[in-house]
Amino acid sequence: MKSAGAILAAAVLFTAACNNATDKTEASSQTIKAGIMKTDWGEADGQRVSLFTLTNAKGTEVKISTYGGIVTSFVTADKSGGKSNIVLGFDSLSGYLAKPPYFGALVGRYGNRIADGKFTLDGKDYHLATNNGKNALHGGLKGFDKVVWAASVASDTVPSLTLTYLSKDGEEGYPGNLNVTVQYTLTDDNELKIEYTATTDKATPVNLTNHSYFNLSGDVSKGILGHSLMIDADAYTPVDTTLIPTGEIKAVKGSPFDFTTAKPIGRDIDSVPGGYDHNFVLNSKGNQFAKVAVLSDSTSGRSLEVYTDQPGLQFYTGNFLDGKFTNRDGKAINQHAALCMETQHFPDSPNKPAFPSTILKPGETYHTVTVYKIVLQ
Ligand code: GLA
Repeated sequence: MKSAGAILAAAVLFTAACNNATDKTEASSQTIKAGIMKTDWGEADGQRVSLFTLTNAKGTEVKISTYGGIVTSFVTADKSGGKSNIVLGFDSLSGYLAKPPYFGALVGRYGNRIADGKFTLDGKDYHLATNNGKNALHGGLKGFDKVVWAASVASDTVPSLTLTYLSKDGEEGYPGNLNVTVQYTLTDDNELKIEYTATTDKATPVNLTNHSYFNLSGDVSKGILGHSLMIDADAYTPVDTTLIPTGEIKAVKGSPFDFTTAKPIGRDIDSVPGGYDHNFVLNSKGNQFAKVAVLSDSTSGRSLEVYTDQPGLQFYTGNFLDGKFTNRDGKAINQHAALCMETQHFPDSPNKPAFPSTILKPGETYHTVTVYKIVLQ
């Protein structure tokens, strides 16, 4: 057993190694402490990239890259004792450098869309990088998913990885130096907990999320239309043809958007042009940490419970996946191969005063927690 001091010292040493972009001498893989392994994963932007493997007592294993804070892999048991990977991803950094559509990504400074890439704050107009037609999506051309984060390992007993990044004033058009910390923890209850913290020196919109694409069967060729889903949301935000909310908060009752009782995702999807890619207005309203969605796959026996303190959930059925990318197992990633449940504030909030505010001011701390929990039925 190592003492807490020794573990801390190891963490500090290894953080220093991580921050040293020219250090190419470190071993390609090393155990940092029980349940955490670090692997040298190559280079991006002239900086060293590491892949961390978090393993819990149940043998569940989550891999996270310092490039983009990406969850590259999430391996869990099924009801028959088999194991499979329940997220889309690649085994090498090069896969991510080819810019897949946000596989496993840590998304920011503003997850989802901002109309026409502009907003006005305190009387000043801001123009963002636009990267989705005329809109800004997921932080812009080089969002938080495409930068290298600094990493450190906490000195607690549960495997946990802390990533930090300074988003400079003006980056992608956003105001203020934003200091961001994201902590990933894998508990023995099979929860992947993601805790986001940020502070700024100028008022700025902030909306951080994770863009993991889940397929609980582990087999992307089966798709997710047979998975069943419950979302605890009585309303959603309808969108225009560029996926910007119209501003309306619409009841789901009697519509294909009603997931208040679990139903197969494929049941009504044909009545939703393009498939689901919508923000659900959670009944917990961002006022409390609550279970907001449950995804289930009866063949593997896996369920995924989503907990958050955020007011919204973007439910996206992988509509734009088109076979261009190949999963780590060599299978084509086709439309509806996997789905995202992105906990968030509502899209385009900086231009929608009636939506809950996403503005972080100097002196305030942005802090939110999301948990993805695997349960066997
Ligand atoms: C989000 C958006 C989708 C799509 C994907 C990435 O989930 O809501 O419209 O842009 O990201 O392909």
